Amino acid sequence: MTSDVPGIAANGLNMPALGLGTWQIAPETIAEIVPVALDAGYRHIDTAQIYGNEEAIGQALVDSGVDRSEVFLTTKVWPEHYAPNDLLASVRQSLERLKTDYVDLLLLHWPVFGGRGMNPTLEALLRARADGLARHVGISNFNIDQTEQAVAFCGPGTLATSQVEFHVYLGQERLKRVLARHNLVLTAYMPLAKAHSVNDPVLWEIGAQYGKTAPQVALRWLVEQDRVAAIPATSNPHHARANIDIFDFALSAEDQTRIARLARGMRLCQPDGLAPQWDD
Ligand SMILES: NC(=O)c1ccc[n+]([C@@H]2O[C@H](COP(=O)([O-])OP(=O)(O)OC[C@H]3O[C@@H](n4cnc5c(N)ncnc54)[C@H](OP(=O)(O)O)[C@@H]3O)[C@@H](O)[C@H]2O)c1
Repeated sequence: MTSDVPGIAANGLNMPALGLGTWQIAPETIAEIVPVALDAGYRHIDTAQIYGNEEAIGQALVDSGVDRSEVFLTTKVWPEHYAPNDLLASVRQSLERLKTDYVDLLLLHWPVFGGRGMNPTLEALLRARADGLARHVGISNFNIDQTEQAVAFCGPGTLATSQVEFHVYLGQERLKRVLARHNLVLTAYMPLAKAHSVNDPVLWEIGAQYGKTAPQVALRWLVEQDRVAAIPATSNPHHARANIDIFDFALSAEDQTRIARLARGMRLCQPDGLAPQWDD
């Protein structure tokens, strides 16, 4: 079975616009949800060294029989591995756990750098790509200034994506413009605002016109935007199937505007010691 999820092309990347998020999904649940997701058409899975489920994801992919080349697999390097030699060694360990020779996308998870700043870590990230451990590289949770610094160091067209919190309650207008200027995909994490969107009356009202639910409308609004991908997480097979069933309708311009008005600067992910000074 092949996915009918559209791909997003930017800076050499071709990434399915919808992927399966896996933060806080325990290994036992991964073994159940990944086959369901693959069967439903997902071909993009997002994990991270810190999630503790790389091994289970690798096993589920091997067991699925789906060809490795069909799945877009992302992992993220945790800051304690940002020293250059450590970064490369930690990525090799991730690959071992994931049971693959490469990831499609390798991200720096948070912009936390020591006295020498981000450049040595970016250099190691580029080395991982040059060595074939990752097809594409990118950043996560970088604010605008940090994004500009990273793009300037790596050179135009080098970073493929920035993964940041983005949902109907957090507009990200300024960051979006910066990423668009550099042709980076914005990968929206917490695209359902941790299920807050599930109870939103405006989203339900809009969804009723299209025969869709509030979370489906929340996801559709994201992926309709230029160079935006979304990676909703779920441990529920029914939700996994529903979340990918968003490519058979289009929101009217009026509904898009109504949804954009829900933005209220609601930021759900700002861990102490990791989060930078945000721009909004
Ligand atoms: N780069 C980073 O620092 C970072 C930070 C946070 C997240 N992420 C990535 O982004 C992914 C998504 O973020 P997230 O998991 O925090 O939040 P999310 O995807 O916005 O929300 C997940 C929650 O929504 C529920 N849900 C999912 N689909 C639903 C549906 N159709 N109807 C009702 N409820 C539904 C899930 O519960 P059920 O299990 O019951 O469906 C779960 O509680 C993560 O898994 C991770 O891969 C990255």
